[in-house]
This record gives sequence, structure tokens and C-alpha cells, in this order.
Amino acid sequence: MTHAQPGILLPAPRLAVYLDFDLAAEGDARGALARLREIADGEQVVVGIGLSTVQALGKHIDGLRALPAISGPGIDVPSTPAALWLWLRGDDRGVLLHLARRLEAALAPAFYLRDSVDAFQYQNSRDLTGYEDGTENPKGAAAEAAGIVHGRGPGLDGSSFVAVQRWVHELARFEAMSAEQQDLSIGRHRVGNAEIDDAPPSAHVKRTAQESFTPAAFVLRRSMPWARGLEAGLMFVAFGRSPDAFEALLRRMTGGEDGITDALFRFTWPLTGACYWCPPLAGGRLDLRALGQ
Ligand code: HEM
Repeated sequence: MTHAQPGILLPAPRLAVYLDFDLAAEGDARGALARLREIADGEQVVVGIGLSTVQALGKHIDGLRALPAISGPGIDVPSTPAALWLWLRGDDRGVLLHLARRLEAALAPAFYLRDSVDAFQYQNSRDLTGYEDGTENPKGAAAEAAGIVHGRGPGLDGSSFVAVQRWVHELARFEAMSAEQQDLSIGRHRVGNAEIDDAPPSAHVKRTAQESFTPAAFVLRRSMPWARGLEAGLMFVAFGRSPDAFEALLRRMTGGEDGITDALFRFTWPLTGACYWCPPLAGGRLDLRALGQ
């Protein structure tokens, strides 16, 4: 019986660490993934495998592709793929640190750590701007339908594609806006979270209204605020049964449909961006048969 990694469908944790790894030239990726399998349970550690790793193994995962770098009016969205992405979930910073060290050691020398970022909950699912994030996420069966692969056979069913972008907020710029400008840039009221029906088309929730796309662009968002010293923002994380919905949302946010860019870009922008394939679980362990393992 195959299942999605449970951390994908569960609510976001109190604390998290994100680890990005590169693959050493001629590194033994298979050996490292076998060791990863002994540790990663899909709940405390969610695993995403990059295109470069799939290619190094001589395999192909239908749908997995690099996130496109996109430029729009005054906007550059980068593509910064990594070989492996791990999302460590928990509620104790020290436990997560030791887990990260254990994973780094298990993956060496084939995979080496490029970056690690700490993330946390702010006032129960709010972005650092104070707005509730995740309200329009699909729930229950709709969440599984949007976020998890079905009907593609053993080894792929239960898997997911995740888009990850680290956005940095220029909070001083955001705070210089009036409360009304702030609400209109999101398209919701910060207090009470009600949607603003007549918000301008640049409002974030107008740009990304999932049902307004053809086909509907539902994604399962599991984003969390991050901070490093006083630098801070949102680690945007969205799971999908393919990368298509995320790319459609991003294209419209960057003005690709009508030249109108998302008002979010007035105070925040992505520093990184990548797409990974999150394998399913079989018997409680990562099912890597699609990678010949
Ligand atoms: C710093 C970056 C971002 C921030 C602060 C942010 C914040 C928010 C907030 C506050 C909401 C309204 C509440 C909710 O439904 O969750 C929202 C909705 C949404 N966001 Fe974002 N978001 C960001 C980036 C993105 C990106 C990059 C995408 C996709 C490419 C995206 C897709 C969506 C979607 C699909 C919705 C729900 C729209 C609907 O159907 O009503 N967001 N976001």
C-alpha cells in the first residue's frame, strides 16, 4: 500500500528547518538515498528529490522539471534548483538541529549541504505581515486531489511535486504603506481575514484565485515564516499533483497573462525557487522504485 509522506497533508508544524543539498560529481547518490531512507519517515522529515539527482540516477519522473526563471515588469523570479530538499518538522529547535546534523552525516559525501534555513509559526499561521496564510487551502479529499499523484501506478501514486521559494520581506516598506493599501495588496482584511470583493486585480488573492484558472489551479500550501538575524520573510511551499498549477499561478502573479503584477512584489520578492519530486511511502519507508531503488 502506498501513501503520501504524511508531513505533506498534516498542518504545518511549530518549527521547521529546510535543508538544500548539492550532489558531488560522481557521488554515490544511491548509497546516500539508501541511508536517507533509514532516517526519513515522511513526517518528521519530508523528502524532495531534485531533477539533477533523478538524472544522475539515469531515471525520468514524468512531470518533474526545473522551475522556470521568470521575468515580468520590474520583477525577476529566480530558478535555483538543488539536488535534494529536506523539510524537517517539529517543535523543539535542539531536536531539529541534531536531526539536521544526523541527516547531513548520513548523506555525505555524495550530497553536501548548500543551505539551511530556520522557520517557525507566527501567531498561528500568519505571514510576518500579519495576514493569515492558508485560508483557501483545499482540505480533506480536495487536499489529496490537489497535492498528491493518483492513477499513475505504483511508485508514482502517493508522490507529490513541491515548489519552494524563499521570499524576503522588506518589512519597513510594507509598514510604510497605509493599513488600507496593505489590505488591498493582499485582497483581504488583516483584522478578521474577510476577503475584499472589490480589491484591485493586482491584489494577491485576485491574482491567485485558484478557481479562476482553466483548469482550476489548486495547490496545497504549507508555507512558514523564516528568519536569519533580522532578515526575514516567507518560505513559500506548495505541493501539487504536478508543477502545472503552481507555474500557472506564478505566471499570472508576474504579469504573464495581462501585464498586471502582484502587489506583493511591492514589499517582498523570491530569492530562491525550485521544484522537487516527493516520493511516496511504502511500508512506512520512502518508496524509491521509480528511481530504480
Ligand atoms: C511572500 C509571498 C507570499 C505571501 C506573503 C502570501 C500570502 C498569502 C495570503 C495572506 C493569502 C490569503 C489567505 C489564503 O487563502 O491563504 C494567500 C493566498 C494565496 N496564495 Fe499566497 N502568498 C505568497 C506567495 C504566493 C505564491 C508564490 C503563490 C503561488 C505561485 C501563492 C498562491 C496563493 C494562492 C493559490 C492563494 C489562495 C487564493 C484563493 O484561491 O483565494 N502565494 N497568500
